[in-house]
Amino acid sequence: MPSNRLFTARIVTHSTVGRGYYRLVLKIPSAITPSLPGQFVMLRVTDNFDPLLARPFGISSVLTKTTIELLYRVAGRGTFLLSRMKPGHSLEMLGPLGNGFPLPEKGMDPVLVTGGSGFPPLHFLARTLRKLRYHTVACVGARGRKDLPPDHVLRSFTVNTAAVHIATEDGSTGKKGVVTDLLSHQLAGIKSTARPMIFACGPVAMLEAVSRIAEDHSVPCYVSVEERMACGVGACMGCSVGMKTGGYRRACKEGPVFDAREIAWSSPSG
Ligand code: FES
Repeated sequence: MPSNRLFTARIVTHSTVGRGYYRLVLKIPSAITPSLPGQFVMLRVTDNFDPLLARPFGISSVLTKTTIELLYRVAGRGTFLLSRMKPGHSLEMLGPLGNGFPLPEKGMDPVLVTGGSGFPPLHFLARTLRKLRYHTVACVGARGRKDLPPDHVLRSFTVNTAAVHIATEDGSTGKKGVVTDLLSHQLAGIKSTARPMIFACGPVAMLEAVSRIAEDHSVPCYVSVEERMACGVGACMGCSVGMKTGGYRRACKEGPVFDAREIAWSSPSG
């Protein structure tokens, strides 16, 4: 599959979808599809006077051979400018980039874990796993109801998985607590014959906690890290992730998905 391709993407639809999120559907050349769940694109937004650095967006769905869906919240000038762009507008786009999630072996039971704004790649992964007939469970966490993914994403998780468990820190939706409580509960209740495999995307503290739980249960775990990215193609080292074996790997080039056991998490393990 070709990658690292710079091309022009045209906005097909662009609308708010609740909880401050925007849904952006882009028309892309068919030569760059399909993308693997976990891959991302870099979009460059300009307002003619103020060209900005490109920024990364996880792909939340590949809708057709020539259309992809991105979900984002306004988090700075680039996304603010993007949020004002109308259908028909063209954007500079680089991608698909990154390695994507490995698919589990047949017979394994995927457990998806997401918090913060980490759900787009897992939304794409859930759809892919459903097509391949995996028995997938999703654990979704947020501070409160207003911080959860948009309703259509939660509905889609429900359609594409066997079960969706929600935790909010304020107890406004689902169980009161954090998403890692859900994961621990899920793994504790699993049959001894089951072979779970964890896929996670969200804030680094959550990924680290998920990684520790996976290690305690001897469950394979892959995490997609949300590093800041400037170039997206491995040139600036701005997205480096420390590895246990020493040295660094670039989230944009060797990631953003890593085996959780390979990452040198900040706190010493217990
Ligand atoms: Fe430049 Fe990854 S963003 S090396």
